[in-house]
Amino acid sequence: MTPDEFRTYGYAAIDWVAHFLEHTREYPVLPDVEPGSLVDTLPKSGPEQGEDFTQILEDFEREIVPRSTHWNHPRFMGYFANSSPGEGIIAEMLAAALNPNGMLWKSSPAATELEEVTLDWLRQWMGLSDFWFGQILDTASTSTFHAIVAARVRKGAASGPLTLYASKHAHSSIEKGALAAGVARENVRLIDVDDEFRMRVDLLEAAIVEDVAAGKVPFCVIPTVGTTSVASIDPVREVLAVGRRHAMWVHVDCAYGGSTAVDPRYQPLLDGVDEADSLVVNPHKWLFVPMDLSVFYCHNKEWLRDAFSLVPEYLRTAGDDRALNYHEYGLPLGRRFRSLKLWFTMRSFGRVKLAAMIHAQIEAAKGLAATIAAHPDYEVCAPVHFSLVVFRHRAGDDFNQRLLEAVNASGEVLLSPNVLGGQKVIRLAIGNIQTNRGDLAAVWALLQEKAAELK
Ligand SMILES: Cc1ncc(COP(=O)(O)O)c(C=O)c1O
Repeated sequence: MTPDEFRTYGYAAIDWVAHFLEHTREYPVLPDVEPGSLVDTLPKSGPEQGEDFTQILEDFEREIVPRSTHWNHPRFMGYFANSSPGEGIIAEMLAAALNPNGMLWKSSPAATELEEVTLDWLRQWMGLSDFWFGQILDTASTSTFHAIVAARVRKGAASGPLTLYASKHAHSSIEKGALAAGVARENVRLIDVDDEFRMRVDLLEAAIVEDVAAGKVPFCVIPTVGTTSVASIDPVREVLAVGRRHAMWVHVDCAYGGSTAVDPRYQPLLDGVDEADSLVVNPHKWLFVPMDLSVFYCHNKEWLRDAFSLVPEYLRTAGDDRALNYHEYGLPLGRRFRSLKLWFTMRSFGRVKLAAMIHAQIEAAKGLAATIAAHPDYEVCAPVHFSLVVFRHRAGDDFNQRLLEAVNASGEVLLSPNVLGGQKVIRLAIGNIQTNRGDLAAVWALLQEKAAELK
């Protein structure tokens, strides 16, 4: 592509994005497509000769967009909603233009140092102490995997099988990370919760004592601030006390809930996190930064170097204390320039605006939960600490299943299912930057309309 062609197609693409961002509500959130429809539509093999770029852009619009589940839609309220505003989109384009590989300081001084700067800013915004060493990884799953590997290395030679603890409501990435780090499945202990879905510390202690008596070696415990199923908050400070007593690494999964700490009002929800050994927070979930950007903070960067540093001759550079070679602190060698989109987002919005947006979404979730709870046909199934509302219609599991399918099939909204206490529930997660109270009112009206049709 020549620079002139880039201008032509680039402007066309920007125009498309601007239109899309302005008119996202006009798209169905969930596409009405069958599995295999794109595979069956596109050619069975790649073109021998290059194709006309106008045609390629047209095919993007004709074949890709209508088969997309629109995460960037204000009525995407499934899983944990995310956002890709203009700031992040522009940053992603510019990062792609520079295309650095931030494995070493020398391979990209700017990418390396911008990562240091933005993660230090974020650390301050979250009210964390200045010893935290941050790095950007793709996902919380990868971040937590890093914590588990570092915990294992820090534990040293163990006299028996290593055991790891999290709550029954912990994200599956914890169990997966443990398995990938070589912990046997039966040694991942998922601890029961109290009536507000918080890890029960008495049961944690009991499980550890039982495991030690059986010759096992507890090495890591992972409380969560903002669980995926109900956004519950484990008692981090109490878990920490247990972890310290048994010389375990304490990693906190605040992939979702952590972003709220940019507003000091919510920092008490992260009480104790600053004293943990590591934590993960995902700006790509709820800090309005596009996928993918997970931040992994570790209390001491040397613990990561012990676990991950391996420097072959071809990666050796002259030592300099200020030249950080990120590849020595984690699994990936090649590293995308992800910090650029964080920098653009932090600068363009500023902390006050980001905090206000998160606060408004939490207030909106609480307001909606109150409305739902006031309706005789519905119940709200978990306390609303953040922006997730978990509820169910009182008409039973089958009805909730059909209700969810009906609202999602309308294309007007995307909600997601879960099972809580053996009952089917519906999760409504507010997080997209464009979601407003009108969207929430419309979704609530739609739920009632579909419920009336199903009765
Ligand atoms: C609490 C929590 N932890 C971890 C994850 C995994 O996140 P990722 O998709 O970044 O691996 C999720 C995903 O929703 C989550 O909610």
